[in-house]
Amino acid sequence: MMAGAARRLSYGDYLQVDRLLSCQAPESDRAGAPAHDEMLFIIVHQAYELWFRQILHELDRIQADFASETVADENLGRIVAGLSRIHEILKLLVGQLDVLETMTPAGFLDFRDLLTPASGFQSVQFRLIEARLGLHDERRLRIEEQSMRERLAPEDRAKLDADGHVSLLGQLDAWLARTPFVALGDYNFRESYRAAVVAALRRDAGQVGADASLPEEQRRQDAAAIEKALLRFEALFAPDAASSSWRMSPRAIEAALFISLYRDMPVLQLPFRLLQALMDIDESLTLWRLRHALMVERMIGIRPGTGGSSGHGYLKATAEKHRIFIDLFHLSTYLLARRDLPTLPDAVRARMGFSYGAA
Ligand code: HEM
Repeated sequence: MMAGAARRLSYGDYLQVDRLLSCQAPESDRAGAPAHDEMLFIIVHQAYELWFRQILHELDRIQADFASETVADENLGRIVAGLSRIHEILKLLVGQLDVLETMTPAGFLDFRDLLTPASGFQSVQFRLIEARLGLHDERRLRIEEQSMRERLAPEDRAKLDADGHVSLLGQLDAWLARTPFVALGDYNFRESYRAAVVAALRRDAGQVGADASLPEEQRRQDAAAIEKALLRFEALFAPDAASSSWRMSPRAIEAALFISLYRDMPVLQLPFRLLQALMDIDESLTLWRLRHALMVERMIGIRPGTGGSSGHGYLKATAEKHRIFIDLFHLSTYLLARRDLPTLPDAVRARMGFSYGAA
């Protein structure tokens, strides 16, 4: 190109379409027995990897915004927008399985054996997303006594280890724990709310116990479930709360409860949307795990996977075990109806509203 001449960008150059379209190399072609559906299998996986890249790109900015000592007010909006974008992508990823399921199990068998021992288990970007969101190794299911890391090839493990990010769950915890308003001046949300929840749960237990329409066994089970919920709530106030079954710290949980309860107060609206977006992400990732497990059962029944796990059984178990923001879901056990909510003192309400121009 001559110096100073303007570069005329084309669609193909900009998107590197030629390179992109040279990346599909079916193993069945190489083996001399082309299997028609292998192209679909490759393209669907590659599309996933591109979307995984976009999710990590969003997480880069979200986590950088969250990393500052006090999250700048003007950044909170784009954190929520980034999380909502991730949620939309995950919904798309669940939907993509429909396309892959147009391949029949018999069509898959035409080339499946050629893939061993490759497996989605080795997707480094998927592992990075899990780790960046907050799925720590010690919480993961093990396969044949080995951790996920131990089962990865050394070069893939090195890529995971090179990612120095703390988790979003950890950042969320620190941010929530700093929430003002939970204790402001004489006001202490902790104590007033504790008393109200304990009273509400005890009332529920009383109602269940007195409900003659329920069979005795059911009453007993319901009462035990309420008692368990009560103990879990009280664990938040115990001095050794760190050993409780909550994943987040007591202060963070308290703040998340506060935000959920008083979500209509102007300053809490955006924090509330942030919590909702994290639950949306957890839910859609779980849906993906379940849909993927079902698809696997449909394709290979209960045979083990090419990556050496039990296949469907392992994948189904991850849907339950690999939840990340599960505490936010469990908080709903302790929400109170508006009529039972302790009233916020006027001084606290005044600090939480937008009162421009008020005298
Ligand atoms: C015919 C379609 C598919 C089959 C039969 C299948 C099968 C499996 C099996 C059996 C596993 C468990 C690990 C193993 O033992 O190999 C697995 C894991 C995995 N697959 Fe697939 N898969 C399919 C499509 C996909 C697609 C389209 C993706 C998208 C990227 C994907 C991503 C993953 C991931 C990320 C894991 C690891 C899950 C975890 O450990 O939590 N799979 N797959």
